Amino acid sequence: MRNRLVAGNWKMNKTPAQTDVFINRFLELVDSNHAAEILLLPPFTSLDWAGKLLAGVGISLGGQDLYFEPSGPFTGEISAEILLACHCSYVLVGHSERRTILNEDETLVNRKVLAATTSGIRPIFCVGETLREHQQGKARERICFQLEHGLAGMDQQDATSVVIAYEPLWAIGTGETASPQAAQETINMIRKWLAVVYDDSLSQGTRILYGGSVNPENTAALLDQPDIDGVLVGGASLSPETFAQIANCAGQSAT
Ligand code: PGA
Repeated sequence: MRNRLVAGNWKMNKTPAQTDVFINRFLELVDSNHAAEILLLPPFTSLDWAGKLLAGVGISLGGQDLYFEPSGPFTGEISAEILLACHCSYVLVGHSERRTILNEDETLVNRKVLAATTSGIRPIFCVGETLREHQQGKARERICFQLEHGLAGMDQQDATSVVIAYEPLWAIGTGETASPQAAQETINMIRKWLAVVYDDSLSQGTRILYGGSVNPENTAALLDQPDIDGVLVGGASLSPETFAQIANCAGQSAT
């Protein structure tokens, strides 16, 4: 049985003081016995304080990125060790904004995924097709390419800690969501890919999330799909009210 995961990716938003306000309000609104796992992904500068506020409340914390080297002269970068020390158990890797705006290629994404798993931090490895690939019917090809390169050299044991997020680029921040059926179809394809490359048990145990304009109105229908194990939420995770609605909805439909 795969435990639902609801992740809020704040991107480049919120100061430590705003993080404090968000978390205090969110904790008032979210069901305390939530059945789904909830994960916050604030900017690096908010992690340590967020971790202290979340201690003992059963809400997970993660970074939005990491560098693959353990330490050293890499100005501006963050290591898995630093994330772990700031209470993180997850890290986003290969988000489309990093791939497109910051030119991260498959090799770099692969190194980061491997660095995360070998350091004991769970990567949320993001894949997804562009609008053009979507229109040209090339989504499957694109996603398989990303999976193959992103997970290259990942052994079976380490692969059990990987979470995959399917985020079609045309749905991120656009208000346009993949239909639940279309998201299910692609996520099922990813699950089948895992079964072929690893085995059935890994494929059935891996959590695969959908991301791209998730909001309180479309969460239930997405999570009703058999292969969608959670949501990666951007814009709608910035308000404690909206994110709590999404988390509570996921928790209810999980029971
Ligand atoms: P969005 O972002 O929910 O604002 O579309 C999702 C994401 O980029 O993870």
